[in-house]
Amino acid sequence: MQIDRRPLLDRLAVFPRLGLANLPTPLEPMKRLTAHLGGPRLWVKREDATGLGFGGNKLRKLDYVLHEALSSGADTIVSGGVVQSNSQRQVAAVAAKLGLACHLAVYHGRLEPPTPEYKTSGNAFLNRLFGAHLHDVPWTGDRNAAIRSLVGDLEAKGHRPYFVPYGVSNALGAVAYATTISEIEPQAALLGFAPTAIVHCTGSAGTQAGLVVGAAVAMPNTRIVGIDIDAEPARVRTDVVAFAREASNLLSVPFDEATVEVVAGHAGPAYGVPHEATIEAIRLAGQLEALPLDPVYSGKGLAGFDRPDPPRALAQRRGCRLLTYRRRAGAFRLSERTRHLSWRARNRHAPPTGPACGEPDDRLQRGIQ
Ligand SMILES: Cc1ncc(COP(=O)(O)O)c(C=O)c1O
Repeated sequence: MQIDRRPLLDRLAVFPRLGLANLPTPLEPMKRLTAHLGGPRLWVKREDATGLGFGGNKLRKLDYVLHEALSSGADTIVSGGVVQSNSQRQVAAVAAKLGLACHLAVYHGRLEPPTPEYKTSGNAFLNRLFGAHLHDVPWTGDRNAAIRSLVGDLEAKGHRPYFVPYGVSNALGAVAYATTISEIEPQAALLGFAPTAIVHCTGSAGTQAGLVVGAAVAMPNTRIVGIDIDAEPARVRTDVVAFAREASNLLSVPFDEATVEVVAGHAGPAYGVPHEATIEAIRLAGQLEALPLDPVYSGKGLAGFDRPDPPRALAQRRGCRLLTYRRRAGAFRLSERTRHLSWRARNRHAPPTGPACGEPDDRLQRGIQ
């Protein structure tokens, strides 16, 4: 049997994309946060910089998935998520840009509205601004049932709807996300390092599936560590394995289930509910790196670093100095969900310490400490 040695980029090249996402996104050192935590060295892949409609990781998936929608002759995009979903906001933005109708199943009841403005501000406001039609439905635990039923209703009315799953997580979404690895690998090499681990928060699982599949080809020595923010680590792992298996078939890449690491214990009391560690992580990222993390995803992801348990301990045990931390956009959720909490956190703790800003240091751009 002949071994398929094609590089990741060649494998990805056969999948067409729309080009709506602003790629590649930057890879930046987080010098002050690294110093504050005492290492390992942290870098951030700025997936909030994908552009359209305030950016985020779903645009990378939608770039490929909505190419398929257009090719199939769809006139309407149908998706869904919770009230303040980042995913829905990005679906609505892309649909507007493409001139397609957008219908969203908005799930109520997965979490208690934390503020009176929860249903009208932030992403909920932007969905309307981008022209999406919102359909309120109760949360049942089945992420895709109401979206599928909406597709059926629209078909019955003569539309040509295209189904975009919860979180844009499916096999093609995972293939799309493997492009992140094809960016990180050369970006890190140019900067003179190879990350020991890529740590990110994981929920609907397509992001992690893509990272795992891409890393199998282009960064085999880099661990992909997903921090469960859904408080459902077993479900998340099952979904990552399923999407990664399908995506690896599409890309003709070997898949080893043992490479799927989903870390539990950082989700706080429930999905969407920030705990003290989340708030502290958001505060640190804001004050040390000017990174606005969100309380549902990236804040919890970083909280996973700020204590001596799996991701961080893992990197240190293996004697590595380099660790890449990924974040995604969620600024609107941030303003909506943590206004009162961040005030409380700010006033209860002393400001974090870190190296003072001095003269511009071009070594910073190369991440040399
Ligand atoms: C900011 C942010 N980070 C991470 C994720 C997780 O990605 P996935 O749902 O593909 O696991 C999401 C998903 O909505 C998100 O909005």
